[in-house]
Amino acid sequence: MSLLEIENLSVTFTTADGDVNAVNGVTFNIDKGETLAIVGESGSGKSQTAFAAMGLLAKNGRASGIARFDGKDLLSMSQREFNKIRSKDMAMIFQDPMTSLNPYLRVSDQMAEVLMLHQGISKSKAVKEAVRLLDAVRIPDAATRVTMYPHEFSGGMRQRIMIAMSLLCQPRLLIADEPTTALDVTVQAQIMQVLADVRNDFGTAVILITHDLGIVAGFCDRTLVMYGGQIMEEGPTDDIFADPTHPYTSGLLKAVPRLDKETATLSTIAGEPPDMSHLPPGCPFSPRCAQILGNCRAERPALTTHGTRRRACHLPLKEVA
Ligand SMILES: Nc1ncnc2c1ncn2[C@@H]1O[C@H](COP(=O)(O)OP(=O)(O)OP(=O)(O)O)[C@@H](O)[C@H]1O
Ligand SMILES: [Mg+2]
Repeated sequence: MSLLEIENLSVTFTTADGDVNAVNGVTFNIDKGETLAIVGESGSGKSQTAFAAMGLLAKNGRASGIARFDGKDLLSMSQREFNKIRSKDMAMIFQDPMTSLNPYLRVSDQMAEVLMLHQGISKSKAVKEAVRLLDAVRIPDAATRVTMYPHEFSGGMRQRIMIAMSLLCQPRLLIADEPTTALDVTVQAQIMQVLADVRNDFGTAVILITHDLGIVAGFCDRTLVMYGGQIMEEGPTDDIFADPTHPYTSGLLKAVPRLDKETATLSTIAGEPPDMSHLPPGCPFSPRCAQILGNCRAERPALTTHGTRRRACHLPLKEVA
C-alpha cells in the first residue's frame, strides 16, 4: 500500500462566473520515504491537488475521486479528523513562511506549544526538541537563536524554521509548496539540501510542488508534470530530463538552464495557460502544442503506462521533439 494514493481526483470551484475545473482526474501515489515533484506552470492545479488531500480547499471548492493516506479515506474526513492527521501524519509548508509563523511569538514558544499540545511533554523538554530540529535543518547556534522572533531571521532561515516546525510531530509525508520560490538561487539550493537531509535523516516522504523544473533534478525520485489540471506525464526524474515523452515537458525543459547539455538559447512555450472554466474538449495543451495532430483538439488523450512512465499524448512516443 502506498503512503498517499490519489485516484481520479478532481477539484471544482463554484464562482459567480461558473465552475472552475482546477483539477481534472489526477491519479498518482507516493511511497514511504519517496520524493515526488509536481511541476507545471502557474494555474495548472498543483496546489489544489495538495490542498484537496490536506483538507485545505477554499469554501467554494469541492473534491471528488479518491485520496487515501495510509489507507484512510481523506475526502470524507471532518475538519476535526483532519486536524489530527495534519502535522502528525502529513505536514505542509508554503512559499512564505511568515503566513504560518506567528510574528509575536519567539520560535521556542511556537515550536514548544505544538509539542506540548500534541505530545503532552513539558516545556523544557519541548524546547530541547525544538533545538534538536533547528539543528537538523542547520540553523547555526540553534540553542541561542531559538529564543528569537521570526522577523530576526533571514528568509532562508525562516524557511528552515518552517521545515523544522513541520517535523515536530514526525510526519511521514511533507508537502512543500513552492518552498524556495521567494528565495535567491544560492539559498534555494540550501533549502533543497535541507529537504534532502530531512528525507535521509527522518525517512519522510516529500512532495515538492514547483513551477521550476530546474530545481527537481538531483532531488526528486519521480516527477509528475501537470497542465490544465491533468497529468501530462510522469516518471523517474532522470528519465524525464533525458527523454521527455510529452511536448509540454519538452517545452518546459527547453526553458531550464542545463549544466549537462549545451543550450545556446533558452526558449519559453508560446501562448497562454488555459482558462480553467473553459477547458478545450481534447488535450488541454493542444492550443499551444507545436506537434499537434488531427485528433488532439477533439479527444482527450488517456494516461497510458509505458514501463516506469506514464503519459497522456496522442503523438507516437518516438516522435516527441
Ligand atoms: N477559491 C478558488 N475559486 C476559484 N478558482 C480557484 C480558487 N482557488 C484556486 N482556483 C483556480 O484553480 C486553478 C488551479 O490553481 P492552483 O492553485 O492549483 O495552481 P498552481 O498550479 O498551484 O499554480 P501556482 O504555480 O501559481 O501556485 C487556477 O486556475 C486558480 O485560479
Ligand atoms: Mg500553487
